[in-house]
Amino acid sequence: MSTLGSMQIRVVDDVDFATVGADAVLSGLTGAGACLGVATGGTPLRLYRELAHRTECGAIDLSSVSVVALDEYVGLSSSDPRSYASYVHGCIAGPLRIDPAATFVPDGAAADPDAEAREYEATIVGLGGVDVQIAGLGTNGHLAFNEPGTPIDGPCHVVTLSERTRRDNARYFDRRGDVPLRAITQGLGTIRRARSIVLLASGAHKGPALAAALHGPVTTDVPASVLQTHPNVTVVADRAAAALL
Ligand code: F6R
Repeated sequence: MSTLGSMQIRVVDDVDFATVGADAVLSGLTGAGACLGVATGGTPLRLYRELAHRTECGAIDLSSVSVVALDEYVGLSSSDPRSYASYVHGCIAGPLRIDPAATFVPDGAAADPDAEAREYEATIVGLGGVDVQIAGLGTNGHLAFNEPGTPIDGPCHVVTLSERTRRDNARYFDRRGDVPLRAITQGLGTIRRARSIVLLASGAHKGPALAAALHGPVTTDVPASVLQTHPNVTVVADRAAAALL
């Protein structure tokens, strides 16, 4: 392990990625009624499987934890298999035996997405904030769906997805044109209020964004660089993602 400012950087072999990530998450989830912020996407899937395995073995019990998602596509209902709500319930809340009533995802089908974003911010505040936020990293440096140019202190909001993000996420859709144009996302200000953050990065394609986020200037051009301003961040990166650090 190394440190960079107040960040802890753990560069791990591929086989250790899930266990080291799970340990980092669990160390911040102390006490009943903790709040876990979750990223979707490919990177954290192994970590969620590891947490599910520990749940099944009886090694951990997260049933009193609340779960809040980072983001959701505008235009997809929670029953749509491509929605992040489906991912959060199917890959996280279900396997971790978290109460569906304590599982929160913005409503992508809301008639007024801006109002939904405001309500989602209020929901997170009402839960007492996030204890541990799991985050992935976009190849363009995005954090949640905060694309380059997003103000570093903003609340939950509606974002227009960049072409690069839509291209990166096209693998989850039949056609690239099916990738929604907009999303509701926690803002960088929302994410920065989490008491701790675990940033996961896996694969050589994340290398340039990870290096820019950790070693570059804090800039809205690289939204994940705001993590340098947070007092409690653990980065778990495999060797390919960390190659440029
Ligand atoms: C997902 C999210 C995104 C992803 C990022 C990386 O909820 O907020 O920021 O974490 O796009 O996605 P993967 O892990 O699929 O490379």
